[in-house]
Amino acid sequence: MTDRYAVVGNPIAHSKSPQIHAQFAQATGADLTYEAVLSPLDGFPACIRGLQAAGYAGVNVTVPFKHEAYRLATVSTIRATRAGAANTLRFDAAGISADNTDGPGLVRDITVNLQRPLQSARLLLMGAGGAAAGVLGPLLDECPAEIVIANRTLARAQELAGRFSSGSANITACSYEALADRRFDVLINATAAGLSDAMPPLPLNWDLGRALAYDMVYGRETPFMAYARTRGAVVADGLGMLVEQAAEAFFFWRGMRPDTAPVIARMRAG
Ligand code: ATR
Repeated sequence: MTDRYAVVGNPIAHSKSPQIHAQFAQATGADLTYEAVLSPLDGFPACIRGLQAAGYAGVNVTVPFKHEAYRLATVSTIRATRAGAANTLRFDAAGISADNTDGPGLVRDITVNLQRPLQSARLLLMGAGGAAAGVLGPLLDECPAEIVIANRTLARAQELAGRFSSGSANITACSYEALADRRFDVLINATAAGLSDAMPPLPLNWDLGRALAYDMVYGRETPFMAYARTRGAVVADGLGMLVEQAAEAFFFWRGMRPDTAPVIARMRAG
């Protein structure tokens, strides 16, 4: 029997997830369909229940429904609970099980694909919204030397740092202006700035050394990426994270992890 999956969001037409999962299905010989579903902004729970009733096996969830998805679930993984958000739902005997594979996807892209260990690294996370909160737990699990959260609205960064600080985790909040004297091994842009062709207000004469500058946005050169490139950093967009989070979702649904490297290469080639 063919298993049915979908990605649910609003807007959704731009989503690359159907392409990615079609490649995973082909590579693993899985008998499945995967489509993009537009949910009304005020009708996400009904949309999900409709898909569940229609016999779908699971869904990915994207903007702006990840928090709602988490709240709908009957069971959640620790990483979905820590994020307070879910990007993957599985419909099974337990009802709706939720996972959040964004953080693991980011970590795997940085450490495996881009070969930058996060253990003992100095990490800057820009942004304090849902995207930043979603990846913070898995970043901390890598035991970096420190994580600094920078945000325009400092109070949000402080709140997020406070929520995740426990035990030995060295996690602090900082304004963009206070970054000029700081040095980082990895800079991650989790702000929504790139989507409107803007960037966080980073210091103009900032020496980035050979840092990795990672933008979670994919499919375009953001102003942050251009900024980092001209300052000598190694630059990456979020395409690898997108494919890795999809592979992790595939595993959550089907207990099998597809090979990501050929899919990333093909998606990059267009
Ligand atoms: P998401 O779920 O995508 O994270 P969000 O919760 O609305 O969306 O958060 C957006 C994040 O991008 C916030 O950290 C926001 O900063 P503020 O909290 O100060 O608003 C950040 N952001 C959006 N546009 C930005 C810009 N032009 N420069 C810097 N930060 C920006």
